[in-house]
Amino acid sequence: MPTGNPLLVEIQERIKAAGAISFCEFMALALYTPQWGYYNRPQIQIGQRGDFITASSLTRDFAELLTEAFVQMWHALERPQRFTLLEMGAGEGQFADVVLNYSQATYPDFFAALEYQIQEQSPSLRERQRQRLGPWGDRLCWRGSDTPAAPITGCIFSNEVVDAFPVHRLQWQGGNWQEIYVSLNSEGALQEVLRPLRDDRIHEYFATVGIDPQRQGYSDGYRTEVNLNLIPWLKDLSQRLERGFVLTIDYGYPAQQYYHPARCEGTLQCYYQHRYHNNPYCFVGEQDITAHVDVTALTRYGEKFGLETLYVTRQSLFLMALGLGDRLLAQQQGNGHLLQALNRHQSLHQLIDPLGLGGFYVVLQGKQATLELPPLEAGDQALPFTGMGNSP
Ligand SMILES: C[S@@+](CC[C@H](N)C(=O)[O-])C[C@H]1O[C@@H](n2cnc3c(N)ncnc32)[C@H](O)[C@@H]1O
Repeated sequence: MPTGNPLLVEIQERIKAAGAISFCEFMALALYTPQWGYYNRPQIQIGQRGDFITASSLTRDFAELLTEAFVQMWHALERPQRFTLLEMGAGEGQFADVVLNYSQATYPDFFAALEYQIQEQSPSLRERQRQRLGPWGDRLCWRGSDTPAAPITGCIFSNEVVDAFPVHRLQWQGGNWQEIYVSLNSEGALQEVLRPLRDDRIHEYFATVGIDPQRQGYSDGYRTEVNLNLIPWLKDLSQRLERGFVLTIDYGYPAQQYYHPARCEGTLQCYYQHRYHNNPYCFVGEQDITAHVDVTALTRYGEKFGLETLYVTRQSLFLMALGLGDRLLAQQQGNGHLLQALNRHQSLHQLIDPLGLGGFYVVLQGKQATLELPPLEAGDQALPFTGMGNSP
């Protein structure tokens, strides 16, 4: 039995005590065990020097363009004296830093009203954020998930957070779902076992997103994931929001595409040193494990909890509507340092690459609030969202 990895040893001990643990529990332990879980290790890094890049870590243009949206939200709410921007899962804190800097320089009235809050589950990343963002003083504060929060007027924002929630993994077998559990083989290594599905919340989930698994024609061995953790998360966000918006950006699919019979391996992906694969049982605690987000679940559960779906679109179109095209043009006409100009040009293109970050979904929900965005490109008929997709 390997002994070099304390997290693996801890997981093996848990499994020995229980016989087997659900994949969801395994993923939660691999990502969030204090000190050793992937996101809670002191050495966690997001961006070029870590295992994966996010839009926030790629270029400041992302946060600057999103600031344009936050300013529009502030106007849509009739310029309240305090506009709270609560960022969930702020990673290295770059996004917050750019939003505060750019607002201060470009929109002083908005900046005067802006109160930035961060909710971050990882103590290591919270510490990193404190170092970067300390100079902002009382402009910014951290909230715990259990802190009773004052009702928010403003926006609750997240980028690539929901895909990091632990998911249940299911396998279709003999006309029914089985749940994937993790146990130990005779040599003590992690192995998957199937157990009958006992969690009624999963049946309710499929009913909510409009999928009847019995009519999907799944073959034996078909695998997929269900993110039940997004349900209490959305409920909590909605309860905290008095008036304003929830803006969620992540990779995913509408339910019809997510649970399409052809997507027979599911969407689980692991990231290790800028390479990705689908084996969650290696590099335990040293690699990120993610699953795509079911965009229909975000909107349907949001509606259940009082969040109106305002827009569902792709990041490329959203950022173009916020002025990314103008930035590209200005950048091409500029005469700055050649290498910097090339890098920025490449980053701007990465933000809108339809096969990469540009294909991410942007979900905007509102509570007693609505927002007129500049017209998005023709063909972006996900607005208003129907929840129907074409193919995987
Ligand atoms: C993939 S990283 C994205 C970081 C950042 N948003 C970015 O775009 O670079 C996921 C972040 O979400 C945080 N996170 C995961 N689950 C969370 C939760 N339930 N509440 C708050 N933060 C969470 C992680 O610790 C990490 O900071």
